[in-house]
Amino acid sequence: MQRKLATNCSISFWPPTRKKISNDIQIKKIIFFANNTINRVKIDLAPLKAAKLPVFFIVGGPGSGKGTQCDQIVKKYGLTHLSSGDLLRAEVQAKTKIGTECKAIMDKGGLVPLEVVLDLVKIAMLEAVKKGSKGFLIDGYPREVKQGDQFEAEIQPAALVIYFEASNETLVKRLLERGKSSGRSDDNIDTIKLRLDTFFNSTRPVVDHYSKKNKLVKLSAERSVDAIFADVCVQLDKHVKK
Ligand code: AP5
Repeated sequence: MQRKLATNCSISFWPPTRKKISNDIQIKKIIFFANNTINRVKIDLAPLKAAKLPVFFIVGGPGSGKGTQCDQIVKKYGLTHLSSGDLLRAEVQAKTKIGTECKAIMDKGGLVPLEVVLDLVKIAMLEAVKKGSKGFLIDGYPREVKQGDQFEAEIQPAALVIYFEASNETLVKRLLERGKSSGRSDDNIDTIKLRLDTFFNSTRPVVDHYSKKNKLVKLSAERSVDAIFADVCVQLDKHVKK
């Protein structure tokens, strides 16, 4: 199976070496080869599926406030917050092979191969289940329709997709402000423009996709954090036991 990457390299799976691994085996086992080939391993999802915990996808443009709202949700509902961006940045910081390959893509505002992100998310979810998670906020995911479909096929359907909508002007302003202190290598105007392009080309279709499935809640992210959160709570109260 071959896919074209944002970096113009090709990616392929190598099924003959797929192995079943236990929950404790970390992402290091997913080898990102120097020739841009991913060797995926089978992750045992049985404990995750048995837990039957609600999953919420949190979607929005860069700087729309996904992380900010997730922090509030965690405080009130005790859900497990998994940000795909944070999981990737942890790999970058740890200077793993995956991290090095992904940094180049992230610095260009592109999308990391969905298999890499999905496996990172799966492993983090399994870890959280072991610690008694009540459910998941998957922040910054899905970034493209295929990501969501693959997650739902391999793990479980999402209970709800919350989409934070804001204008480009607002997003750029927030990210440039955050960039003064965030230390994030993608919080600069050139990469922000590329992130916005990626959002409109790849992620915006996710909104229509889940809207057609009646799973989408669209909230204006142009308001105060508290006003947005009040609307988030109205939605989550329908799905989460406090
Ligand atoms: P990621 O880390 O997910 O970045 P992002 O989507 O660009 O979102 P941010 O984290 O920058 O913003 P946010 O929406 O969380 O806003 P925040 O709350 O911080 O992804 C980074 C990269 O990783 C991607 O470009 C891609 O390369 C890769 N990647 C990630 N996930 C991937 C996936 N699934 N597949 C493939 N690749 C993936 O708020 C921003 C600022 O605004 C803050 O300063 C905050 O204080 C402020 N703020 C928040 N809310 C408000 C408000 N209501 N009013 C005023 N200010 C506010």
